[in-house]
Amino acid sequence: MATVLREKLAFRPLRGDFGVEAMGVDISRPLDPGVAREMREAFGRHRLLIVRGQDLPPDAHVDFTRAFGELEEHVLNEYHKLQHPLIFELSNIGPDGKPNAVHPDRGTLFWHTDATWRRIPAMATALYAERAPSQGGHTMFADMIGAYEALGKAEKERYRGMRVVHDLNISRLKAGYQMTQAQIDQVPPIEHPLVAVHPPTGRLTLLLGSHGQEFVGLPPLESRGLFERIMNHCTEPRFVYEHVWKPGDLVMWDNRATMHRATEYDVALEPRVVRRTVIKGEAAPVAPA
Ligand SMILES: [Fe+2]
Repeated sequence: MATVLREKLAFRPLRGDFGVEAMGVDISRPLDPGVAREMREAFGRHRLLIVRGQDLPPDAHVDFTRAFGELEEHVLNEYHKLQHPLIFELSNIGPDGKPNAVHPDRGTLFWHTDATWRRIPAMATALYAERAPSQGGHTMFADMIGAYEALGKAEKERYRGMRVVHDLNISRLKAGYQMTQAQIDQVPPIEHPLVAVHPPTGRLTLLLGSHGQEFVGLPPLESRGLFERIMNHCTEPRFVYEHVWKPGDLVMWDNRATMHRATEYDVALEPRVVRRTVIKGEAAPVAPA
């Protein structure tokens, strides 16, 4: 099978060192090993990788993301496309082929990091747009390394060593969803450090998001206040890139160093069909020494 010519590949930064767009590559075909290596390196360094204008059937989506690591299934199995257990689809298209006025997952509207409720959270998520609304339905990404590095010395010192409880069941309840008992049993609450080392770069990052529920050892009110303060800091516009989807876009983000959220769109009028694969993490988050 034909492979992509390596010399076509080029990268364009998105905003500072946060995010990069790969151009001159067709990711629906098997990647040349050199291209795959360059894309992995760019992704590791920039934490957000965008490839536009791709015609990416589900099998090719799975194959492309396997170049970055092993894929994992999601515990919320109601979102699986039956023929692809590794693909999680979010769609507002009803059986008649028209928008059904139902948002497929209101949990995505809150700032979060995917799968921080796992002991070893997902390393990355790759989202592909088959159909995108003409207005809204964007995805916003927060640069958690940039947010950490912009903190004052006293805050950095205070946050290092703090731990956060993450719990999918509670974040689903807050978004208005009830998990089955079998699903809840699979994902007990888990603790992670608030400040962690980003493995590819060695830089420090903040690990938070809507699955985070409380700080270990802080009274509930103080915990809530600190949570909001840090979330507000991390989501200031200076740390955020907002992706306006066009059909054929693939965006891959590093869950070890980003948060994201979707923006609202008119679910009764505008079609939005996106699907994602999730790449397993290799190790639990590690606090700096
Ligand atoms: Fe997400």
